[in-house]
Amino acid sequence: MKSIKSIKSLKDKTVLLRADFNVPINKDGKIEDTFRIDKTLPTLDHLLKLGGKVVIISHLGDDGSETLFPVAQYLAKKKYKGYFDANMDAMDIQQGVDELQAGEILLIENIRGFDEEKKNDIKFAGFLASLADIYVNDAFSVSHRKHASIVGVPKLMPSYAGLQLEEEVRNLNKALKPKHPFLFILGGAKFDTKLPLLKKYVDSADAVFVGGALANTLLKERGFEIGTSLSETGVKGLKALAKNPKILLPMDVIVENNKKYISTEVEEIIADDCIVDIGTETLTRIKPLIEKAKLIVWNGPLGKIDDSTIDLLKLLAKSKAEVIIGGGDTVEIISQMKMHKKFTFVSTGGGATLDYLANGTLPGIQVLK
Ligand code: 3PG
Repeated sequence: MKSIKSIKSLKDKTVLLRADFNVPINKDGKIEDTFRIDKTLPTLDHLLKLGGKVVIISHLGDDGSETLFPVAQYLAKKKYKGYFDANMDAMDIQQGVDELQAGEILLIENIRGFDEEKKNDIKFAGFLASLADIYVNDAFSVSHRKHASIVGVPKLMPSYAGLQLEEEVRNLNKALKPKHPFLFILGGAKFDTKLPLLKKYVDSADAVFVGGALANTLLKERGFEIGTSLSETGVKGLKALAKNPKILLPMDVIVENNKKYISTEVEEIIADDCIVDIGTETLTRIKPLIEKAKLIVWNGPLGKIDDSTIDLLKLLAKSKAEVIIGGGDTVEIISQMKMHKKFTFVSTGGGATLDYLANGTLPGIQVLK
């Protein structure tokens, strides 16, 4: 990938920056976690410092109905000079771009408001490309989507990777060529996205600790009673995996029974218990692995409640290993606890991080190569 660090000047040039400002916004229009936006600001600063005019595109939510206005307000608060174009109208956008001055930004309203975005419509990609001289992708977290602003546009113009995209690739690549001992921690609920990861990392890691509802399914496969806990049936290839001794499962858990939380050994779970988290004994058992590891990669929450996820974050914060954390839910907790700086790298991606860890690339990255 060409890096924006290789650009000498952007004088008289317009940049089309694909960012991922898909951030949680509450009903009062307040951004609840600005992590993703903040991570793209160094790229934006770099482009503006080189003298560029920067047109920013992003999606928000799935169907294009939400507004990026709170993001525009946040950028204004951060003292970026520029405009927000709320009209989903090509002529209007073109006019906004024409009026842009060096050092200014133009944030375009939610790109998914255009039906053509998700369809990767070639004419629409052509329109976006016509707005600028170069394209920069700093939206790692949506680079698993074959959408116009991710894979269509970079085929049509000189294209570069933004600083955060480069950082994501550099850090996540550590999981692909791991230092040992390597501990992989996998939480979450659904095997359809996590099974490829489990299969891959059970080979390359020295140990794989599984929590969340994924662990419930594996416990059931190993013959334990899991009561009414969330689990899956008919997952292909799980039987063989469940027997793999490298896969470590909770030994004790927190169950909900009759609206009470009770700590119990997995052997003692009864038919009307519902597992909501892993137990403290389990964390004590994986502590030596954390202490010995040179690399730890963690994706996905360990329970329906956040207690063990928070405890594990505290343990990992003290570890001497390189610690790489990815996945939406865990990242929100890290933000609430203001712990980002305690780890080697916290990925901005959710689904994109899973795909990257499983496949070693993403469509939006391939097209930049
Ligand atoms: C994310 O939140 O994972 C990215 O912004 C991608 O969003 P999407 O799943 O709606 O494509």
